[in-house]
Amino acid sequence: MGSSFYHNIICSLLVVVLASIQLAIGGPTDPTDGFVELPFNTSFYHIQKPYDIPVDQRHSFIDGIHKLWVYSTDKPLAKNSPTNSRTEIIIQGYNYSSGIWQFEGYGFVPNGTSGVCIMQVFGASPHATTLMLRLFNGTLSYYRAPVLVSNIYDRWFRLNVIHDADASKVTVYIDGVQVIEAPGRGGKFHYFKCGVYSQPDASYYMESRWKGIKILKKM
Ligand SMILES: *[C@@H]1O[C@H](CO)[C@@H](O)[C@H](O)[C@H]1NC(C)=O
Ligand SMILES: *[C@@H]1O[C@H](CO)[C@@H](O)[C@H](O)[C@H]1NC(C)=O
Ligand SMILES: *[C@@H]1O[C@H](CO)[C@@H](O)[C@H](O)[C@H]1NC(C)=O
Ligand SMILES: *[C@@H]1O[C@H](CO)[C@@H](O)[C@H](O)[C@H]1NC(C)=O
Repeated sequence: MGSSFYHNIICSLLVVVLASIQLAIGGPTDPTDGFVELPFNTSFYHIQKPYDIPVDQRHSFIDGIHKLWVYSTDKPLAKNSPTNSRTEIIIQGYNYSSGIWQFEGYGFVPNGTSGVCIMQVFGASPHATTLMLRLFNGTLSYYRAPVLVSNIYDRWFRLNVIHDADASKVTVYIDGVQVIEAPGRGGKFHYFKCGVYSQPDASYYMESRWKGIKILKKM
């Protein structure tokens, strides 16, 4: 038990003191703090797109950037599906029913894309979704309301969505700032999706781009 023992104690105390000061002055905390990043590659997702055309007509992956687009007149993802047209990355490798999960990604929506859902936490009861982030005329909303960001066109934004399935709540951060905490909507089967899924009042052409997608979990 030499001087390094005391050195370690002093260092630990210093870390605690600095962290408390940061909290006290409202310093930045990162939404991913305390989460563990899980493996993520092409085995963990696939692309849902209009059933009658090949995927490369609605999705590209170049220089790490997913570009997904769809037309309001496109067919749904399956022949007999009653749903609207979509091109979405579905993260089917991390279905979950409990635990605290997080989606992180950098998104970009070009001016003109409107009436579209760009990110979902799938699964709820009796509804289909726990969260939809929808875009109307440049405004990003939680479903139709409330507004989360009033003009999100033509710039990269960082999106973090934390779904605490145990406590039944979902928290959304844009550029590291919490924009909403909403209650869960039931259900016992969830996964994350992002892309373009047309909603009422959809523009003819819809596009969103995504990079740096990470799936994280609180262990
Ligand atoms: C994806 O990651 C998993 C888990 O790390 C690994 O087993 C698998 O080989 C990887 N697949 C590809 C296509 O890289
Ligand atoms: C996740 O659920 C989908 C059904 O929506 C299923 O096709 C897929 O195999 C499941 N993934 C895993 C890893 O169990
Ligand atoms: C989007 O484009 C329209 C038409 O060019 C323009 O009037 C509008 O100001 C643009 N909006 C934003 C947020 O850039
Ligand atoms: C978006 O803008 C268009 C054209 O100005 C307008 O017709 C439409 O009602 C707007 N939609 C919403 C949801 O505000």
